[in-house]
Amino acid sequence: MASSELGLKLRLVEVRYGAPGINLYRLAACDGQPLPAIEPGAHIDLEVAPGFLRQYSLLWPQPRLDTYEIAVQEASEGRGGSRAWHRQSVTGEIYPGSEPRNLFALNAATATTSYLLAGGIGITPIISMYRKLVAEGRPVQLHYWTRSAEAALFHDELAAVSDGSVRLHHTSGPAPRLADVLADIPNDAPLYCCGPTRMIDAFDDLTAQRPLHLVHRERFAAAPVEAGPAGSFSIHLARSGRTLEVGADETVLSACLAAGIDLDYSCEEGICGACEVRVLSGSVDHRDQVIAPAARATSTVMMACCSRGLTTLDLDI
Ligand code: FES
Repeated sequence: MASSELGLKLRLVEVRYGAPGINLYRLAACDGQPLPAIEPGAHIDLEVAPGFLRQYSLLWPQPRLDTYEIAVQEASEGRGGSRAWHRQSVTGEIYPGSEPRNLFALNAATATTSYLLAGGIGITPIISMYRKLVAEGRPVQLHYWTRSAEAALFHDELAAVSDGSVRLHHTSGPAPRLADVLADIPNDAPLYCCGPTRMIDAFDDLTAQRPLHLVHRERFAAAPVEAGPAGSFSIHLARSGRTLEVGADETVLSACLAAGIDLDYSCEEGICGACEVRVLSGSVDHRDQVIAPAARATSTVMMACCSRGLTTLDLDI
């Protein structure tokens, strides 16, 4: 397969205004059958144009069993996926989609308060988590930074919460910084953060000393990656016993595909997690945005589309 299987056929059935520059899109299974059930934090690959895949967080709960909903912010920079949604999509159009994946899942039931931190369009997975935690009666605190009240997606739903579990911060006026909020959150609390690159960079720095298993974040755009050594290296594929050379201008993914070995992939820029492979031995130069910097040293997986070997890598392929 050339990329993550696009086994779903989804028809755009509704477009709604969400906030300035943000629309909500409902997509229904063309065959009317229930779609794979999702949990908060799940995302899907959609083929926005032939051969052009983008990843979108799915809103929880699903509007119906056969329907998913996504929010898309029109970005002036970027590669045109959001512009295609905002300028060209029409109801009735069919989009091939992958099975949902979830690299940003809520931990199983925990008695302590979960802290949800969102910036801008990063509210999409975060509000799904908030809804789920509230539905389960679990303690939660949500902080959501936007430029203004008008810019906040789901503003009316969140502003109507009266129990103090939602804090809306508007950066056009006085607003606490992420560092201020984190300073008041106990060290043993689960954290979930999604937002723009600068916010996630700051979150990674500010949480580097916290217990790894409690710190969760998701990027929705690739951050520039510091270039490490870009020499060639070898990979040993444990399942087939083959050894491949990955040239300086290749990736593990491209070397495998060129050798006729089928690997899943989607974004090819280290943000979606589709190309994750298990590392059995060897030292990895992690260049993706999926694995938090603090988790890299102990990670047993790598993203084949961008991370490289500092030594020969023994891979579960
Ligand atoms: S293909 Fe998306 S992280 Fe590698």
